[in-house]
Amino acid sequence: MTAELFWEKHYRARQSWGGPANPLLVEVATPLKPGAALDLGCGAGGDAIWLARHGWQVTAVDVSPTAVEQVRAHSLPITAEQHDLAVSFPAGAFDLISAQYFQTPLPLDRAQVLRTAAHALRPGGLLLVVDHGSIAPWSWNQDPGTHFPTPAEVAAGMALDPRQWSVVRADRPQRRATGPGGRTATVTDNVLLIQRAPA
Ligand SMILES: C[S@@+](CC[C@H](N)C(=O)[O-])C[C@H]1O[C@@H](n2cnc3c(N)ncnc32)[C@H](O)[C@@H]1O
Repeated sequence: MTAELFWEKHYRARQSWGGPANPLLVEVATPLKPGAALDLGCGAGGDAIWLARHGWQVTAVDVSPTAVEQVRAHSLPITAEQHDLAVSFPAGAFDLISAQYFQTPLPLDRAQVLRTAAHALRPGGLLLVVDHGSIAPWSWNQDPGTHFPTPAEVAAGMALDPRQWSVVRADRPQRRATGPGGRTATVTDNVLLIQRAPA
């Protein structure tokens, strides 16, 4: 199955769009001066909408045409593009690139996508990668043997030149999360923040 077919099926079954932004995106972006932002794997669009409402010029990308159409249909001036990021990447240079739970059960050279993203940063720009670091009761994957790559492992996989990119945050905070049906649980996020060297 292709990434487009898999995620299109997922989003065609979805009832609601938008929704709250991811908390770590809000935490990292709130103190920043708004500029050009790129949301990789934007899904239901909550992060792209939050960024646009806070003054960012947003490009939102997903492999699912339905997800992209939903973001595009929003009244905010968001540029929404469909890309299979294994194949193509949006043009432009960005002050903030966000990959929130950009995780998929299908084969994907994610390190290469994130490496391409790091190269699309403007000087001084930030790449925020937030991944699941634990299994929530509502996760599709309930395998207790699952290895969640640590932020250090994600950074190492990107193989960036340390003279051009530096890790400014790599940690595993916990938070209280709400899942389907209002169920709550404590979950761990793996957080990696990379900065491109200023000009
Ligand atoms: C786990 S969801 C996270 C969605 C959103 N960022 C969030 O935090 O709710 C992963 C997203 O990545 C997208 N995706 C998966 N593989 C992709 C690919 N090869 N190219 C572009 N987007 C992809 C999916 O369609 C989905 O929206």
